[in-house]
Amino acid sequence: MSLPETHAAGPSAALSSAGPPHLGHDDLVRAQAETEATPRRRYGLAARSLFSLLDALYGKGRTLSKFKVLELVARVPYQSWEQVAYIAITHVHERTGLARRIHERVIESRSQQDNEGWHLLILEELVARQGGKESWLRYWLIPQVLSFAYYQLSFLLFTLHPSWSYRLNADFEDHAEHEYMALVAEHPEWEDEPFESSFAEDYGPFQSLADLFRQIGHDERVHKQESLARMGEARFR
Ligand SMILES: [Fe+2]
Ligand SMILES: [Fe+2]
Repeated sequence: MSLPETHAAGPSAALSSAGPPHLGHDDLVRAQAETEATPRRRYGLAARSLFSLLDALYGKGRTLSKFKVLELVARVPYQSWEQVAYIAITHVHERTGLARRIHERVIESRSQQDNEGWHLLILEELVARQGGKESWLRYWLIPQVLSFAYYQLSFLLFTLHPSWSYRLNADFEDHAEHEYMALVAEHPEWEDEPFESSFAEDYGPFQSLADLFRQIGHDERVHKQESLARMGEARFR
C-alpha cells in the first residue's frame, strides 16, 4: 500500500488536541448569522451523492434522528485518517522526525473524532428523550453500512491522494454546519429550553438547547476549516 507523505507543517500537537473552542451565547448567535450569510461550498460528486442518499433514506426534513445518522457517519473519516497515520508510522519509524509529525496528525484526528463522538451521544440522548420508536433497519443497520462504506472510501482516498479525502470531508462538514444552524432557526422554542445532559460535563454546559446546537454547528465549521487547511498542504514528508 502506498501511503501519503506527512505534511511538513501543521498545528502543534497541543493545539490540535484541544478541539474546537467553546463559545458564549453572543458569539454563538454571531456564528449562526455568519453561517447563514455564507453560501454553501460547491459540493463534489461523492458528497452530493451521499446527501441525496441521506435525503432519500431519512427525508429532507431536519429531524434529530437524521442528525444522529449524520453524526455516526461524520466520525469515520477521522478514524480512517488516524488509522492511515498509524500505519505510516509503522513504515517510517526509523525516521523519528517524520514519525513525530505523523503522530501529530494522529492526535488531531483523534481529537476530531472525539468531538464528533460527543455530538453523537448527545443526539442519541435527545432522540431517546423524545420517545417514539426508530426503525432498526433505517436507524441502526443502514447507518452501520453507510459508516462502513464511508470509512472505506475515506481510507482509500486518503491513501491515494489525501487532499481528495480532506475535500470530501470539508464538503460533509460544511453541509453539517449549515444544517445545524438551519435547525436552530427552525426551532425558536429551543432558546428557552435548558440543555440537560449526562454529557454536559464532557462536552460543556450551555444556556439552552439552541446554544448547544449552535455550538455543534460551529464545531462542524472548525472541522471544515481544518480539512481545508490540510488540503492546501503538501503530502506527508
Ligand atoms: Fe458533528
Ligand atoms: Fe464535524
